[in-house]
Amino acid sequence: MSTVSLTPSDVTLTPRNREFDIAHCLARDWFDNHAFKTAWFNAMSITFPLGEKFFIDSVRHFSDRIEDPKLKEDIRGFCGQEGFHRREHQRYNESLCRQRGYDLQVMEGRLERNIQRGYKFLTPMQRLAATAAIEHITAILAESALCDENPMVSPADSAMQELWRWHAAEEMEHKAVAFDVYRAVGGTEKMRRSAMRQATFFLMADVGMALVHMLRKDKKLWNLRLWREGWKFLFAKGGILRRIGPAYKEYYREGFHPWDRDTRPLLESWKSHDALPA
Ligand SMILES: [Fe+2]
Ligand SMILES: [Fe+2]
Repeated sequence: MSTVSLTPSDVTLTPRNREFDIAHCLARDWFDNHAFKTAWFNAMSITFPLGEKFFIDSVRHFSDRIEDPKLKEDIRGFCGQEGFHRREHQRYNESLCRQRGYDLQVMEGRLERNIQRGYKFLTPMQRLAATAAIEHITAILAESALCDENPMVSPADSAMQELWRWHAAEEMEHKAVAFDVYRAVGGTEKMRRSAMRQATFFLMADVGMALVHMLRKDKKLWNLRLWREGWKFLFAKGGILRRIGPAYKEYYREGFHPWDRDTRPLLESWKSHDALPA
């Protein structure tokens, strides 16, 4: 089993200190003018600041045991990138809740309790396995977001597109860091797969609870047409979760590695369209 970084040498994990002026978008249904689709993305954003802190802590816990200099460097890049993501999504979430009357404490409180349960009942190795699993989910969502044929965030204002695409690109750059650390410190294939099953359940539950909170506050929770359209948006042919299904399943394959999916062309394409230098 590999104990070194398998991130390709031409992929650099650059923490880009970006700020996005998105307050005006958050006041309304910024995604496709649709309440459910907007709430879905907003609910994902709610999970980021606490979730990404958990990821950073899970990886840092093992950093002293890493000997490969490149993997050590990857860890620094990973923590820097997730740190900026946390900050931007914290600003996003505060502005969103202020403008739309959502209760950030209620939504984050629920998440915080789940994370605390993670600290109580999981070993550091299991938390690292959960981190690697969720990083795979974010990476394949990112792949979908950056794919020109199927732009996930195209029906949105340009500032929102830029924020989500910036986050997606950096998720893709660091997609193998938690995974490589997990392997380097002796994580097993069995635990890796079982962590994915559990992490998927908790992630969907956390995003789902935040989504329900928002739709309830919007007084649209019992709008069945909205739920039908939302279901289609997620699970029908071409839906954002349906589309990532095959890449999700790859994680359960023995010997899988995140860079088995060579997504460098998508990163190059993002860089060439991105207005700002790294
Ligand atoms: Fe992130
Ligand atoms: Fe990440």
